[in-house]
Amino acid sequence: MNSPHFPTASRRAFLKAAGSAAAVSALAGIKIPYVHAAEDSSIEVALVGCGGRGTGAADNALSVSGPPLKLVAMADVSQKKLEGSLQALNAQHAAKIDVPADRQFVGFDGFKHAMDALKPGGVAIFTTPLAFRWVHFQYAIEKGLNVFMEKPLIADAFSAKKMYALAEESVKKDLKVGVGLMSRHSKAMIELHDRVQGGEIGDIILMRGYRMAGPLASAFSEKWPGTGSELLWQISRFHSFLWASGGCYSDFYIHHIDHCCWMKDAWPVKAQAVGGRHYRYNYVDQNFDSYGVEYTFADNTKFLMDGRCMVGAVPMYNSFAQGTKGLAVISKNGDCGTPSSTYSSQSVDKDKLIWQSNDTSNPYQNEWDTLISAIRENRPHNEVKRGVDASVTTSLGRMAAHTGQEVTWDDFMACDQVFAPDVDKLTLESPAFLHCDADGKYPVPQPGISKKYEYEVVKQA
Ligand SMILES: NC(=O)c1ccc[n+]([C@@H]2O[C@H](COP(=O)([O-])OP(=O)(O)OC[C@H]3O[C@@H](n4cnc5c(N)ncnc54)[C@H](O)[C@@H]3O)[C@@H](O)[C@H]2O)c1
Repeated sequence: MNSPHFPTASRRAFLKAAGSAAAVSALAGIKIPYVHAAEDSSIEVALVGCGGRGTGAADNALSVSGPPLKLVAMADVSQKKLEGSLQALNAQHAAKIDVPADRQFVGFDGFKHAMDALKPGGVAIFTTPLAFRWVHFQYAIEKGLNVFMEKPLIADAFSAKKMYALAEESVKKDLKVGVGLMSRHSKAMIELHDRVQGGEIGDIILMRGYRMAGPLASAFSEKWPGTGSELLWQISRFHSFLWASGGCYSDFYIHHIDHCCWMKDAWPVKAQAVGGRHYRYNYVDQNFDSYGVEYTFADNTKFLMDGRCMVGAVPMYNSFAQGTKGLAVISKNGDCGTPSSTYSSQSVDKDKLIWQSNDTSNPYQNEWDTLISAIRENRPHNEVKRGVDASVTTSLGRMAAHTGQEVTWDDFMACDQVFAPDVDKLTLESPAFLHCDADGKYPVPQPGISKKYEYEVVKQA
């Protein structure tokens, strides 16, 4: 494999190819040697959210070296997704899977049953859309379970406060918790971070992240067909709805936002932004087609994050840090694509190359190897607070674009718009959080008009 990056599209292809051993192999990463001999090292795993990433994360878990991990329970709101995931995983890891029908749980309460099935020391995987993260994590803490949860962790201040509090609780309980911001486990980026912090490119004055591509995943939605559950339809198209995912800005751009801020070892204090819906005539989702966000750090350094979902516009998918003495290419292509490199010039100039990474290990596997070795060796490992910080940073940039206002960290945290009230009480019969109007449209951001909230909810008559 040339790059450790697995674009979301590949994950979807993987899920579609459920049952194909080749597809699972494609997601298997390079493993680090197992170093510790605990007495009974078998670790049970439960998967909550059996879509593309959930299947990939379970594959990473079952690929960790040493005493095998065992998948013992699965939960999803969709029977079909659960079955597809189980079939794909069975094709590659049959000996490590023991999920009979009575440990397959369908429904919003499935997460509880799946976690109840784990013995102490087990790991719960949370790979649903983010709206459910705090609900699931709260229960894992109650049960004393270790967790791997996917990014982003929150999209509104209400959930951020919940997750910050839960992060503290989980640290107090010494739970080991990994968060799917896999850049942090890219060995190339770890070395780059050391070099940047060591002054190789001088003081950082500007960072840039670009995620510009055509329509991606479920970020564009045409009208709800009008039959079946509107709630489940929105969940199945979660990139379209801010309550479910924070939209394409939060879901797609968080990796660049996280690793750029990491290179500086700081989070920004505020953001201002532009963005708009240019070609959304037939689409009813809440996303913009373009976002240009300018983050400012306490020392007035800037970070520009540009995102675009447009057919025909030039694709760009990389990130850079510019310093007083040179340039760092953080991700060459993708969310964390190697090689990372540094230059003594302000542009990518081969003659000015200082360093280029040569590690090609898979960050998605590395993050699991790290989590499991922390569990086996009982070392502290908890990435939740950092994951919430990255998610708040992402959200305040999104809010600046959607409201047309400058948004500080404190403004975001003080915002009382709760995207998914009572999300912990949902049943398969619950109504959706947002209802479409007579034209099938949902409320969208109106910068400069709706200045306080990212969208105005129209109450149903
Ligand atoms: N780190 C990465 O590079 C990366 C890549 C892809 C996705 N992700 C993250 O993983 C998460 C899932 O993304 P995906 O692409 O796998 O989406 P997906 O739609 O393929 O999978 C999500 C699954 O969760 C299920 N689900 C939704 N709500 C549920 C609930 N309350 N209880 C149980 N199951 C529920 C859905 O039915 C679906 O099967 C997102 O947060 C996404 O941002 C991370």
